[in-house]
Amino acid sequence: IPVDPFDLVIFGGTGDLARRKILPGLFRRFIAGQMPANARIIGAARSDMDSAGFRAMVAEAIAEFGGMESPPQAKLDAFLKQIHYVAIDARGEAGWAELQELMKGTDKIEAYYFSVAPALFGDLAERLQQWGMADKQARIVVEKPFGRDLETAQALNATLATYFDERQIYRIDHYLGKETVQNLMAVRFGNMLFEPLWNAQYVDHIQITVAETVGVGGRGEYYDKSGAMRDMVQNHLMQLLCLIAMEPPARFDPNAVRDEKLKVIRALDPVLPHHIIRGQYDADHDDAEGHPNYRDAVGDPRSKTESFIALKTQISNWRWSGTPFYLRTGKRMSARSSEITVVFKETPHSIFAEDAGQHRNVLSIRLQPNEGITLGVTIKEPGPGGMRLIDVPLDMTFSEALGEDAEQVDAYERLIMDVIRGNQTLFMRGDEVEAAWAWTDPIIQGWEARGDVPKFYDSGSDGTTEAFEMMRRDGREWRKVAP
Ligand code: BG6
Repeated sequence: IPVDPFDLVIFGGTGDLARRKILPGLFRRFIAGQMPANARIIGAARSDMDSAGFRAMVAEAIAEFGGMESPPQAKLDAFLKQIHYVAIDARGEAGWAELQELMKGTDKIEAYYFSVAPALFGDLAERLQQWGMADKQARIVVEKPFGRDLETAQALNATLATYFDERQIYRIDHYLGKETVQNLMAVRFGNMLFEPLWNAQYVDHIQITVAETVGVGGRGEYYDKSGAMRDMVQNHLMQLLCLIAMEPPARFDPNAVRDEKLKVIRALDPVLPHHIIRGQYDADHDDAEGHPNYRDAVGDPRSKTESFIALKTQISNWRWSGTPFYLRTGKRMSARSSEITVVFKETPHSIFAEDAGQHRNVLSIRLQPNEGITLGVTIKEPGPGGMRLIDVPLDMTFSEALGEDAEQVDAYERLIMDVIRGNQTLFMRGDEVEAAWAWTDPIIQGWEARGDVPKFYDSGSDGTTEAFEMMRRDGREWRKVAP
């Protein structure tokens, strides 16, 4: 079903994100028949080129990042006809009259995607207003990093609030656009089976792992100023934690869902220094490709930035008091794997012989890759040898259950269409982002005050030894990262 006609202006339209995600994503939606024939995509950036030049760039981006064998030429041509470009200076006057002319008298939905450094948000907003664009019906899309601490996030929110209402602002956390992340809500709130057990009485602990095999690559300059805490934990892992821990919202609507997430963040205990482990990847000495270690990758032999975090936190509310949440993320780990695991408690009393074994149910939700759900169930070990217990997985892989042709929609495609539809459910509200920083700030300030230096871990491993020790001290263990 096509969405309503729209004009989408992408500031930073020639940038990395636009080329990798936004433009190829829009093309896939076009192919799926979702983009109306009179919709327009208007790239706006500093590069001095015309619409023809931009179309050529878009075609290249689709070839490189579109994930399609060979995009049908007729479709591609039709898509490119809906694309325009304006060379614009966010801080000056150049290009604004031209953009104004393009947007004049349109009665379509207007969306402005600020795919630029946050330092430019204010300038763009001010210019838009000066030139009489982006009225109260327009939608504004902004990207992470949304600030680097509470103060800067508050300042960004205040700047945006000067020009726009909160209901116009779409703060992207692309994890919320992932199909399986939305599935967390479907699994929890669409089944009777799980929710009665979803609390501290039955759940021993919960683990959230987002492991990556990539290193910092060409993003060293940005990354070294951020680290895993700001780059991943404050946003993506926090969102996963919220979805897994929140109370059932009364309705699946933007504010009902975001109110519940906010309550989780506000109920998070501060993290004690010995409950958070920082790591930095060392080279993998057997690595034939010779990937550099972290410090070489960012070009600072003394960098104290972490590329790995493992932490333990608690949610102080009725549902979760007493159930720890362990979060872990890192680069250059053994596998690319994001998974949430709910480890249930042992049965209160075993009726079997002592040596039969005591087991726990483990529910793990694989977010990527190989999306699916596995429930570890205890059964009798087959054979005549008396009653001994073993665990077997009740395993479901979504692609098998739904068929390989089930429509795969990339996070960005989904989120951009939600912007056009005017649905903010999968976007972060300003107070949510601020609350997440309020929890993150003291942790980072503690490291800075103590001059904390992350411990090394080997590339291709599952993180630092300290991270394993932290779990062992609690009598628990991390799930294996490698599939
Ligand atoms: C981004 C981070 O937000 O998410 C990157 O800045 C990270 O450092 C990426 O690699 C991970 O996203 P995905 O979709 O590949 O899991």
